[in-house]
Amino acid sequence: MLKTKKEILNIAPYTPGKSKISGVAKPIKLSSNENGLGCSSKASAAYKDFENFNRYPDATAAELRAAIGKVYNLDPEKLICGAGSDEILEIIAYAYAGEGDEVIYTKHGFLVYPIAAQSAGATPVIAPEKNYTTDVDAIIAAVTKKTRIVFFANPNNPTGTYIPKSEVLRLRKGLREDILLVIDAAYAECVTATDYSDGREIVDLGENTIMTHTFSKMYGLAALRLGWGYAHPKIIDILNRIRPPFNVTGPTLAAGIAAVNDQDFVKKSIAHNTKWREKLFAELDKLGFTPVPSQGNFIMAKFGDAADAGKKAFEFFASKGILVREISNYQLPQHLRISIGSDDEMEKFLTALREFKK
Ligand SMILES: Cc1ncc(COP(=O)(O)O)c(C=O)c1O
Repeated sequence: MLKTKKEILNIAPYTPGKSKISGVAKPIKLSSNENGLGCSSKASAAYKDFENFNRYPDATAAELRAAIGKVYNLDPEKLICGAGSDEILEIIAYAYAGEGDEVIYTKHGFLVYPIAAQSAGATPVIAPEKNYTTDVDAIIAAVTKKTRIVFFANPNNPTGTYIPKSEVLRLRKGLREDILLVIDAAYAECVTATDYSDGREIVDLGENTIMTHTFSKMYGLAALRLGWGYAHPKIIDILNRIRPPFNVTGPTLAAGIAAVNDQDFVKKSIAHNTKWREKLFAELDKLGFTPVPSQGNFIMAKFGDAADAGKKAFEFFASKGILVREISNYQLPQHLRISIGSDDEMEKFLTALREFKK
C-alpha cells in the first residue's frame, strides 16, 4: 500500500466558494471575491491574440515584472510571479518551514496558510484576533523558538478588516530577525483607508519580509491564476530555486502585462467596489446583520445567533439563485461573506436580503 506523508493526511482540503445551484442555469455568484465588472478588455484581447503555443513561456516573467515594477514603482529584481499568489504562499512555506517548525496565522486568517504550512511539514499555530482583526500583540505572544514564518492578510479574508501601516511596522519590530513575515496584500487595490500600506516599506527595511499581490481581485483575472511577490533579492533567489520553472503560462503573461498597463480599468473596478461596499454595508447595518467594516471586495455579516445561522441564510439566498460564502470552516458559523458583484447582481442581492429579514 502507498504510504502518504502523515502531515498531508492532517490537512483539511481547501473548500472553494460554490458555483452551482441545481436547477438554476446561471446563479448569481457572490461566493469567491471575484471582480463583478469582469476584466480589462485589453487583457482579454492579449490573451486571445496569443499565438506562440509551441514555445515555453519566459521562465523569469521578465516583461511582466518590468511592467509591474513600473506601475507599482518597485524594483523588478525584487519581484517574483506565480500561478496565483497562492502558489507564492505555498513556495514560501516550502522554502522556510519544515518538520519541527511552527508557522503562525491569525484565527480567522486565510486558510491557504495552514495548508501551506502543513504541506511543508510544519505545524500551524493560531494567534487570536481582536474584533475579527489581526492582533499584533497576540501574534508576538504566539512566537516560540520554533517559529519560522508569520502569515497574515492585510486586509484579511474573510473578515475584511485591516491593520494600519504603523501596526504592521510594530509587528515586524516585535518579531525576531529570523522569522519571515508574509504580508498578504491580495486586496490592497481595494483599500481606501488612508493609514494603510500594502507593506512595501516594511519589506524594504530588511531581508525578512515579503509582500504578495494578486491579479485575481481588482484586475479580474482570477481564471488565469496570476500573482506576485515583492521581497529582498535574497528571498526572491531562494523562492526561484523551488518555483516551478514555467509556472506562469504564455497567454497569462501576455494578459497580465496588458492588465497592469490598463490602470483605467483598475480605477473603474475600485470605484465600483467602493460604491457597493458602502451601499451593502449600510443596508446590512440598517437591517441588523452587524456587518464588519471591510476594506476588501466583500463584506462579512452575522445572520443570527443560532449555531447554524450562516448555513440557514446561505440556503435562503441559494433558493433565490444567489451564492454567497459560508465560512464555518473559518470558525464563523453564524456569518456569511458576500462578495461585490455587478450592479444588477447587487440589486438582486439587496432584494433577497430584505426578504430574508422579513
Ligand atoms: C487573502 C488572500 N490571499 C491570497 C489569495 C489567493 O489569490 P490568488 O487568486 O492570487 O491565488 C486570496 C484569494 O481569495 C485571498 O483571499
